[in-house]
Amino acid sequence: MAEVIAILNQKGGCGKTTTAVNLSTALAINNRKVLLLDIDPQGNATTSFGIEKNELNSTIYTVLTGKNRLEDTIIQTGIQGVDLVPSNISLSGAEIELSGEIGFHFILKENIEYVKDYYDYIFIDVPPSLGLLTVNSLVASDSVIIPIQAEFYALEGIADLLEAMQLVGNRLNSPSEIKGILITLYDSRTRLGREVFKNVEEYFGEKENIFKTYIPRNVKLAEAPSHGKPCILYDEECRGTVAYNELAQEIIAMENQ
Ligand SMILES: Nc1ncnc2c1ncn2[C@@H]1O[C@H](COP(=O)(O)OP(=O)(O)O)[C@@H](O)[C@H]1O
Ligand SMILES: [Mg+2]
Repeated sequence: MAEVIAILNQKGGCGKTTTAVNLSTALAINNRKVLLLDIDPQGNATTSFGIEKNELNSTIYTVLTGKNRLEDTIIQTGIQGVDLVPSNISLSGAEIELSGEIGFHFILKENIEYVKDYYDYIFIDVPPSLGLLTVNSLVASDSVIIPIQAEFYALEGIADLLEAMQLVGNRLNSPSEIKGILITLYDSRTRLGREVFKNVEEYFGEKENIFKTYIPRNVKLAEAPSHGKPCILYDEECRGTVAYNELAQEIIAMENQ
């Protein structure tokens, strides 16, 4: 049965989508079956696989609004072992539409139940907000990966994020554990990168897992989406690819713990 992992941080541009796409692919290369749910109206994860998002009739939006079942919207990415539930701009109105529904916090979880048996990992690429889509993701997930960009304001907003996790855990009786904190966009040449790491370590202390792998700032990671490919396949040797492969190994090593 799949472990459902939400990749979240309400801050935009910290590497959520890049992590979702490349970690999914790296795990698939290691023979894991992965489903990636794009639940961001920007549909960047969808585009990253070279999928033309605006031509799709069935997306996560039609799932959340009850027009389709999740299993009927799963598409192949062209990469063996990685399936995708795509998203596009139609999702942008969903939060308002859904807030009138009974049980709207649980829609994603209920839909995922039906496909959990077919995968080893289900990743959710979450939009940059703490709104209804994020709450749905937290309810649906067993654990979360929190990418933190190595920059001066890295920890800003983290307290709100942890509080949201706590609220969902208590009020909706759906706790998610922290799978790990992931340092992204790391530049080892700057003192700032090292300082951020120290701050993150102090903040999360011994309590939470901070992945040993840091994702470096690497231009190939930024280029790959415009070629419709995960970086892991676009440039097999660049530092970004090496890092996401190492992250996948860390996740695999956690499987039997
Ligand atoms: N490690 C990295 N090195 C260089 N560019 C990156 C890296 N991670 C992400 N990017 C780029 O930064 C931008 C934001 O990343 P993205 O993964 O979309 O963040 P989020 O999903 O959190 O908004 C994108 O243009 C992406 O290609
Ligand atoms: Mg994103």
